Amino acid sequence: MREIAPSLLSANFYNLQDDLERLKKSGIKYLHLDVMDGNFVPNISFGLPIIKSVRKNTDFILDCHLMIEKPERYLEDFKNAGADILTVHQEATIHLQRTLAEIRRLGMKAGVSLNPSTSEETLKYIMDDLDLILIMSVNPGFGGQSYIESVNEKIKRVRKMIDESERDIILEVDGGVNKDNIKELEDLGVDLFVAGSAAFKNSEIEKNIGGLRDDK
Ligand code: DX5
Ligand code: ZN
Repeated sequence: MREIAPSLLSANFYNLQDDLERLKKSGIKYLHLDVMDGNFVPNISFGLPIIKSVRKNTDFILDCHLMIEKPERYLEDFKNAGADILTVHQEATIHLQRTLAEIRRLGMKAGVSLNPSTSEETLKYIMDDLDLILIMSVNPGFGGQSYIESVNEKIKRVRKMIDESERDIILEVDGGVNKDNIKELEDLGVDLFVAGSAAFKNSEIEKNIGGLRDDK
């Protein structure tokens, strides 16, 4: 079954409990948590207290996407808040290999994210340190943007790199994923699909998730 990671950014913050219960009912395993600092990206979202509270009250795999400068300053805090997967941006940390190794040392899965204009070249040097690669298909910072088609070629190349490495690395795509393009992305080899607006639109969570999983 197609694995969807709904992004909490598009949830109803006035009634998170209800949205989380409906996500649970829709059978999702992963929850994508977008942390933004107003510096690496132009927007500010939410941080540790929300993640801590979601951790306490749900058993989703917490897939934390850090859109923050120098994420190495907060790795232990995210571990303590309950993150399962911690993804940092290649563009936001100078000593990327050290940051990834530290995430694993703390007992989390380590992910790296690449902006649409960032080359996958760096991945060659960190394949040993990765559990997940998050390809951005919009410029990070906001939900509800349109998928950037030119990222498709990068997805294909990264899929090939993962297969050739014979490592167990999840390929995740984030930004503008919807019912109309998800099948094509699956065919390109994507394992995990982040969906913000497509998962929460019109507050029809169960129906939306069902639609993303089903091709008809
Ligand atoms: C964007 C975030 C995404 C966002 C996706 O910076 O990283 O996870 O919530 O939202 P949609 O699916 O609406 O593009
Ligand atoms: Zn994200």
